[in-house]
Amino acid sequence: MEKKVTVVGAGNVGATAAQRLAEKELCDVVLVDIIEGVPQGKALDLAEAAPIEKHDARLTGTNSYDAAADSDIVIITAGIPRKPGMSRDDLLATNAGIVKKVTREIAARAPRAVLIIVSNPLDAMCHVAFEASGFPQHRVIGMAGVLDSARFRAFIAMELGVSVENTHAFVLGGHGDTMVPLPRYSSVAGIPITELMSPERIEALVTRTRNGGAEIVSLLKTGSAYYAPASAAVEMAESILKDKKKVLPCAAYLQGEYGIRDLFIGVPVKLGAKGVEQVIEIKLSAAENAALQKSAAAVQELKSALAKLTY
Ligand code: NAI
Ligand code: 2OP
Repeated sequence: MEKKVTVVGAGNVGATAAQRLAEKELCDVVLVDIIEGVPQGKALDLAEAAPIEKHDARLTGTNSYDAAADSDIVIITAGIPRKPGMSRDDLLATNAGIVKKVTREIAARAPRAVLIIVSNPLDAMCHVAFEASGFPQHRVIGMAGVLDSARFRAFIAMELGVSVENTHAFVLGGHGDTMVPLPRYSSVAGIPITELMSPERIEALVTRTRNGGAEIVSLLKTGSAYYAPASAAVEMAESILKDKKKVLPCAAYLQGEYGIRDLFIGVPVKLGAKGVEQVIEIKLSAAENAALQKSAAAVQELKSALAKLTY
């Protein structure tokens, strides 16, 4: 393939993302993990599925970062996931150390890559990768809003008995309890959901979206969601690889947009070959803006906690 994407972390999200990238024939895929044998085994297993799945993407599994050289995109999923009873924020110290180390290895070998961060707590890990890479802000992007919006869309489709393809939704803010689903900007075939559902039902779907990650953790018991997260990261990668310029909610580094400065947080962005090509400022009501500012304050708190850690 013409393009190359490295996925760091060959666990649930990483391996599933590698599968989707290869099966969509978007790029060659390099899968890197710290555990010997796991990335090699998963890459070989995926390569052996290729004749049936009918793709010619080359898959490489390795414990060395050398194969990541000159990647167009690097998706970072390395770290530990949540267990029941843990919040994403409980992962802060461990994952900060892992993301810092991984990002330095990548930045040395793929200096022109766009980084898509997945590891949690997401918004804080974007800061770690931004600092460790030294990359410009438009090439460090966090995956969360696409996942949270997909969850909201799935719940809207289930509620109304319509195709998921007809649904559109926006969830902004940090990837945590303060995330900001925006019913006013969520629609079915262009019809705002505020005209299709009662305020009580909308509130129920908003709450389920906010708790979407925890709902899966409590069912799986040994880890967190990975099919939808992998799909979300790959949708972002596809928009960048094909320079599609899709408008997607992603964690981007804000410099005054939405009145927020020096912070990664989920907002609508245009994703193209350069990474974040534009932060799109939509008009928010007073209540929506207050919710976004509250979410930004929660992310700022995590950023401050990071600054006090040695990792
Ligand atoms: P997992 O445990 O299945 O996989 C993580 C992988 O990272 C493991 O294979 C592990 O060996 C590897 N790893 C750990 N340290 C490493 C290092 N120093 N270098 C290279 N690889 C290393 O976990 P899963 O389910 O894939 O989740 C990965 C991360 O993504 C977690 O932090 C999780 O919370 C986060 N996540 C974030 C989402 C989001 O919306 N942003 C959604 C889903 C997961
Ligand atoms: C999720 O939302 C754990 O952040 C992950 O599923």
